[in-house]
Amino acid sequence: MPNIVLVGAQWGDEGKGKIIDILASRADYVIRYQGGNNAGHTVVIGEDEFVLHLVPSGILHKKKICVIGNGVVIDPKALLEEIAILKTKGVDTGSRLLISDKAHIIFPYHKRLDELRELKNKNRLGTTKRGIGPCYADKVARTGIRAVDLINADVLKEKLKSVLDEKNAILTKIYGDPGYAFDALFGEYLDYGAKMKPYIADVARILHEAIRKKKRLLFEGAQGTLLDVDHGTYPFVTSSSATAGGACIGAGVGPTKIDKVVGVVKAYTTRVGEGPFPTEFPEDLMARIRKKGREFGATTGRPRRCGWFDACLVNHSVMVNGIDEIVVTKLDVLDELKSIKVCASYKYEGRTYKNFPSDIEVLENCEPVYKELPGWGEDTTRITSYGKLPKKAKDYLKRLEKLLNTKIVLISVGSERKQTFKVE
Ligand code: GDP
Ligand code: IMO
Ligand code: MG
Repeated sequence: MPNIVLVGAQWGDEGKGKIIDILASRADYVIRYQGGNNAGHTVVIGEDEFVLHLVPSGILHKKKICVIGNGVVIDPKALLEEIAILKTKGVDTGSRLLISDKAHIIFPYHKRLDELRELKNKNRLGTTKRGIGPCYADKVARTGIRAVDLINADVLKEKLKSVLDEKNAILTKIYGDPGYAFDALFGEYLDYGAKMKPYIADVARILHEAIRKKKRLLFEGAQGTLLDVDHGTYPFVTSSSATAGGACIGAGVGPTKIDKVVGVVKAYTTRVGEGPFPTEFPEDLMARIRKKGREFGATTGRPRRCGWFDACLVNHSVMVNGIDEIVVTKLDVLDELKSIKVCASYKYEGRTYKNFPSDIEVLENCEPVYKELPGWGEDTTRITSYGKLPKKAKDYLKRLEKLLNTKIVLISVGSERKQTFKVE
């Protein structure tokens, strides 16, 4: 297997966790390169369901090395809890988990500011309130605290003191919030540093060595392309580079070392949080698909908004990620529909948009132009090979392939490992 970047090609929750788990069997290293515990990646193995937030989804394969790159923002409390939960389920992270010394750290003031901005601002984004945006903002403002700082008491003391003075001023004066006491926070984070120390390493160098030894690297994207801070539906995005290019920056690996980009799409579309969603279902269909697809957030439990497959949007993803191959998940969720719509372009004020518009006003008010296809009306969840799919399901996939001008290579018809087959 070459070095692969796997990205979500919609608004997140495409089933990346499941597909990473499958591809990980042929990889040596699985690397998260952006996002934080806003991500919720579900892997189902028999009776067991694992929801991973920070630890790469490759961890469930015993010998794989899992890496949290410099581009990830880490809430140490959440990470240590996740490691402990994995342990109770018999998954030992031991020496298989590595954390970049350059990864930025989420503090309680990041979470509080995230919450307060969501609460007080008129234009809510519907964030996960995990402190992601404020932490990345500090990184770019060059006031962030990194993993390496947590294991140097002197550096941590100095940085936290100056950062906290500013954060407390904002919290108390703008939001009327009590703020945080230095001593307690310093002690808490020194303790996290001590606990995380065995995992902290110069990850870019380790990956460089791995590439030299021809090891196989699998990069696990979090969120989705339309949540990318540059290429998504700004400002209704997350604060990191969820697109394939983010893998280079967020892991310290040069673009010449990446061989392939795989995009994961649902057979329909979902989105959590606020923001435009041209193909969003009407209420009755929304309720039906949400129930059948169990479309509730893996991190926050919020109901996901659902809609028809949007090829205009996924074409944008194919372009900005350089997607070579596509994986389609949750085909089974459409099993009972009599007819299925696919959006190929938008109409707004008499103009047809074949390319995904950047203007949020167009996205919010446009009319999707649909092609309608017949449903297949059969249960696909027990199907184990492409040849056995109903003809109309194959026709649907072929239509997507044509609209996206990209090969569909893998199909998923259920959350379990065995409910996956190659397109032959
Ligand atoms: P991620 O964030 O992209 O990893 O996706 P999530 O884990 O947040 O959401 C995907 C959900 O769909 C999870 O509950 C998976 O177990 C489930 N899932 C994945 N693939 C399939 C599939 O083909 N069919 C069905 N019905 N569920 C699936
Ligand atoms: P995975 O990796 C779906 C959304 C939030 C919100 C916006 C900004 O499981 O696909 P943030 O907390 O990141 O500042 O919120 O991004 N969001 C996700 N939606 N799946 C995710 O991750 C998401 N991570 C963030 O709902 O709209
Ligand atoms: Mg998810």
